[in-house]
Amino acid sequence: MEPHNYVGAHDLQRRDASDIVEEFADVFAAMHGTCIDIGCGPGTITNDIILTKLPKDANIIGADISNSMVEKARKIYKNEKRLKFFQLDIETDSLPISEMEKYDSAVSFYCLHWCQNMQNTLNNIHQLLRPGGHGLVMFISYHIGYEAYKRLQNNPRFKPYLEDTWKYIPSFQDCLNPRMTMKKMLEKTGFEVLHCSNHEKTYIYENIETLKNHMIAVNPFLDRMPDDIKNEYLNELTKQLTHDTILFKNKKDTSPGYNVLDRYKLLIAHFRKPDNSIIIER
Ligand SMILES: C[S@@+](CC[C@H](N)C(=O)[O-])C[C@H]1O[C@@H](n2cnc3c(N)ncnc32)[C@H](O)[C@@H]1O
Repeated sequence: MEPHNYVGAHDLQRRDASDIVEEFADVFAAMHGTCIDIGCGPGTITNDIILTKLPKDANIIGADISNSMVEKARKIYKNEKRLKFFQLDIETDSLPISEMEKYDSAVSFYCLHWCQNMQNTLNNIHQLLRPGGHGLVMFISYHIGYEAYKRLQNNPRFKPYLEDTWKYIPSFQDCLNPRMTMKKMLEKTGFEVLHCSNHEKTYIYENIETLKNHMIAVNPFLDRMPDDIKNEYLNELTKQLTHDTILFKNKKDTSPGYNVLDRYKLLIAHFRKPDNSIIIER
């Protein structure tokens, strides 16, 4: 995921982050102290949407597995005293001791569907939080586009570049009851679950080109493909996605063609590490 592609094509993530901070405004307003934003990307949502909803005495440490995202965020927000960024894999088997119980709250938007080992991920969030700390996460539980990833993996033209497709399919994509599964996992981790829901959302892309730019911004395979295969793959992916979404005539004169209505599911959970927390099972 290239930081500049993502910054130019993340309106959907911005819209959904705004919806969450609005819905959980009281929770954000009570996040005093240090908050970690897990999978912060280039930091735009950390700064524009999360930081503005936290109390004035709060600061955020953005964490991301990608060094280029961390570098980009540091560069953009070097003068913002309440923001710092560092590299962290939230799925890691060896969380740095210096990070343990360092945070009063943890948020994560549009990141945890990248994590295959959800239990490790939740264990790490538990360890990052101080007793009494709150966590609020939102991630994709289902998107039809991942079915296109699976189908294209079997196309002989693209197969050599898509061997590890499974790593990029959200762990809840084929889950029959994501809400209940997530709730149980959070409880097993030792959290008190305050909210857990699985919502269907829709988003309208202005045209097919905008959808394509969005796909380029979040696709993990493109960097490994030579240019000719990349273009072919992107065209095929766009074709499959537009087949699976709803197209309707764009009414705006300024933008001819079709709007694309995309449907997907988001898992949202708000939880708390109890004051006298013990680790239930690892
Ligand atoms: C779609 S971006 C979301 C960025 C931002 N939170 C937002 O809402 O716009 C997902 C980010 O998660 C990061 N990520 C993926 N796997 C991760 C992991 N295991 N640990 C930390 N960050 C991860 C990616 O590098 C990427 O920057």
